[in-house]
Amino acid sequence: MKSLLITIDGPAGAGKTTVSRKIADRLNYKYVDTGALYRGIAFEARIARVGQDDDIGLENLCSALNLNFVKDGRGLRLLSNNADITDQIRTPEISMMASAVSARPVVRKYLLDLQRNMGRKKGVVFEGRDMGTVVFPDADKKFYLDASQKVRAIRRYRELESKTFQILEDVEREIRLRDEHDRKREVAPMKPADDAVIVDCTDLSVNDVVERMLSYILK
Ligand code: DC
Repeated sequence: MKSLLITIDGPAGAGKTTVSRKIADRLNYKYVDTGALYRGIAFEARIARVGQDDDIGLENLCSALNLNFVKDGRGLRLLSNNADITDQIRTPEISMMASAVSARPVVRKYLLDLQRNMGRKKGVVFEGRDMGTVVFPDADKKFYLDASQKVRAIRRYRELESKTFQILEDVEREIRLRDEHDRKREVAPMKPADDAVIVDCTDLSVNDVVERMLSYILK
């Protein structure tokens, strides 16, 4: 089978990362978590004390930034100017900041080229919010993975539970705010591409979702 470019968009906590990784493994493809790139910029902006709506500051920050992924025994790692920041970008604070900086056109423009470059050779699964709509409108197979807000909050809470002392209500609030922000922004709002297959995984297991998607990819 020829190498394809596959996109999986959808809201926070829908299970995009788990599903994308499994599909990439099964097809022997690469996997790119584009949310991590927005998180990387948010992380660096916080350190450099650049405000979330300071477009000139963000533009300067991006132009001096070198974000790239490497794979090691622990999985996909995000390097920012050669420093491994993978573990630092998974906090609720960085989630909200990533959602805020992702609404700025300067940030999206910077990441657009970077992401397209990563997909040049195909054989990649990209997960994000605008992969099938803006970054790769000609992708071979597009999915939009969704689930009820409650179920997404519970899944995210279980993931975080061992690492933080967050309570479920806080996780639900964060997911609600991010959903609204990511959906309502002017540039590249989160939405399914017209030609995306929509998968609602509220009542589906990870394996069911993966098999359903693979059968569509391989047909
Ligand atoms: O997938 P994630 O939760 O790690 O993404 C963090 C934020 O980054 C998300 O709230 C919105 C933004 N994002 C985006 O705007 N476009 C993408 N392709 C991926 C993420």
